[in-house]
Amino acid sequence: MRPDRFTDKVAFITGGGQGMGQQLALDLANEGAKVAIVDIDQAALDETRKLLDEMGAESLLSICDIASDVQVEAAIKKTHETFGRIDILVNNAGLLRSATIEDTTNELIDKTIDINIKGVLYAIRAVTPIMKAQKYGRIINVASITGKNGDNTTTFVYGASKGAVITITRSVARQLGPFGITCNGIAPHAVMTKMMYYWDEEKKAAMAEKIPVKRLSTAQDMAYLMAFLASDESSFINGETININGGYYMD
Ligand SMILES: NC(=O)c1ccc[n+]([C@@H]2O[C@H](COP(=O)([O-])OP(=O)(O)OC[C@H]3O[C@@H](n4cnc5c(N)ncnc54)[C@H](O)[C@@H]3O)[C@@H](O)[C@H]2O)c1
Repeated sequence: MRPDRFTDKVAFITGGGQGMGQQLALDLANEGAKVAIVDIDQAALDETRKLLDEMGAESLLSICDIASDVQVEAAIKKTHETFGRIDILVNNAGLLRSATIEDTTNELIDKTIDINIKGVLYAIRAVTPIMKAQKYGRIINVASITGKNGDNTTTFVYGASKGAVITITRSVARQLGPFGITCNGIAPHAVMTKMMYYWDEEKKAAMAEKIPVKRLSTAQDMAYLMAFLASDESSFINGETININGGYYMD
């Protein structure tokens, strides 16, 4: 922790009401950032607001469904008006459901694409003119191991959506790099947040055994990496989606 690492920086984090997004928001605020968080879960936002207030952080928390371009644009506009800049965009909100290929409904396919792909595109599009005008930006997209390696337990559309996030990351890195903006991703695996509701204790223990470092990961593991990608120290990393899985999958 370095108290001044993010002084004068403004971060916009989707899905920051809980899980790794919340942890990142708290860490960035601890290191001096102003944080804007959007989420669809009011109770989670209230809890996060309490934690940020206790720290004395400057923050803006609002309900916003990232599947709506109108809501995303409004939230980014409000953040820009409130804080005068947006340095860091973290596309973290996501939808994961477990279902077999045969059980995956059209509704679930549409919803996953709307949140996991369109939500990322909408936020990047909205923040681009702001970051271009600043000649500075850090965009971080939360992908998944499933976007690289496929998966047995999530819906097959989830892995597809995260594969798209990895490709979006590369395109944005190429197109916005010349404007002082980098775009990188992280590819987590088995992070013990609410999202992993469908893993029982037996499955968790069996998975931990298969991971070279012999444990599952935490929201804090993810937040450490995202904070680095959000910092000035990462300025020569662009277009990467970094595996963070204890050595379970390497490429
Ligand atoms: N937990 C894991 O093992 C794991 C592994 C790989 C990737 N990921 C990815 O990490 C990201 C964060 O997940 P997490 O594990 O912290 O989960 P989480 O469930 O703890 O947090 C996700 C947050 O996103 C919010 N959200 C969901 N849909 C939204 C929408 N339409 N608009 C705004 N907010 C919305 C939720 O309300 C929640 O607060 C996701 O993109 C997920 O796909 C997680």
